[in-house]
Amino acid sequence: MNELAIETAGLVKAFGENRAVDGIDLAVPAGTVYGVLGPNGAGKTTAVRMLATLLRPDDGEARVFGHDVLREPDAVRRRVSLTGQYASVDEDLTGAENLVLLGRLLGHRKVAARDRSARLLAAFGLSDAADRQVKNYSGGMRRRLDIAASILRTPDVLFLDEPTTGLDPRSRNQVWDIVRIIVAQGTTVLLTTQYLDEADQLASRIAVIDHGRVIAEGTPGELKASVGAGSVHVRLRDAGQRSDAITLLRTVLGPNVQPDPDPVALTAQLSGDDTDREAAEQAARALAELARAGITVDNFALGQPTLDEVFLAVTDKGAAA
Ligand SMILES: Nc1ncnc2c1ncn2[C@@H]1O[C@H](COP(=O)(O)OP(=O)(O)OP(=O)(O)O)[C@@H](O)[C@H]1O
Ligand SMILES: [Mg+2]
Repeated sequence: MNELAIETAGLVKAFGENRAVDGIDLAVPAGTVYGVLGPNGAGKTTAVRMLATLLRPDDGEARVFGHDVLREPDAVRRRVSLTGQYASVDEDLTGAENLVLLGRLLGHRKVAARDRSARLLAAFGLSDAADRQVKNYSGGMRRRLDIAASILRTPDVLFLDEPTTGLDPRSRNQVWDIVRIIVAQGTTVLLTTQYLDEADQLASRIAVIDHGRVIAEGTPGELKASVGAGSVHVRLRDAGQRSDAITLLRTVLGPNVQPDPDPVALTAQLSGDDTDREAAEQAARALAELARAGITVDNFALGQPTLDEVFLAVTDKGAAA
């Protein structure tokens, strides 16, 4: 069960002076979703392209199910599939034509390719759009078609490079469901994303990368614990009660309570050392105190830490060390 699907040690790729990937160590357990989280330019796509044998590392080692990406690229290619950040399907073909064509390229016979295409289109909610040209698809439909194309042949490792960037919430959820189905069938998924909530929804472990380096690694719970408990968002019925609410919440939650631009809203940052449970208890206490003071609350939400907060926390730690 502890087999590693992907293992890298000191992986490096430089473009001129720019060390896009600057010594990355990863250990991705087989059969899991592993999240690689990082902002624009962090080196996510570069790392994935090296693992998929599309780019030669300058230094370090990378193995996929024990096969070295430099010495055994064919063995690696047989086991991996990549869904790029930019969709790779043909715009002028229909969804069904794309999948049948790719299936034929993989060596499936015509009938088998058609059958597999129809089943994937149905599974991804694209049956109605099967005979429309891809250039008329929405972004979410294209992304789903692209993932369908990458699993025409069930890969051992699937690289999903920012599969939901730019998608609306409903399409994001559909892609998340697809990823869950793929991993339930035994494929290891390496997912890059800029969104902590996406990694949180899908990944068993997450590496946070910035400037080509891993700056934090762990389970979603461990990473969240490292950035504190997040924040409480409150909307009041009456803007006139807001300054009283802020004064009260500062006594319950500490000094970090600020008015929002919306005149009935305010945000309180929970203190950094709290666990999830303590955060929920603090939030419950805050809500009870507001009620006791006769302040009417229309909406009260405990927010997860954001990616920004993860970065601030891990880079702060780096600076302090
Ligand atoms: N082919 C290339 N030639 C030169 N520089 C490159 C090339 N590909 C990437 N880079 C540079 O390497 C760095 C990492 O880029 P990369 O595409 O890996 O980031 P990313 O984490 O995937 O970002 P994004 O979230 O924007 O997709 C960036 O500074 C980028 O400009
Ligand atoms: Mg990228």
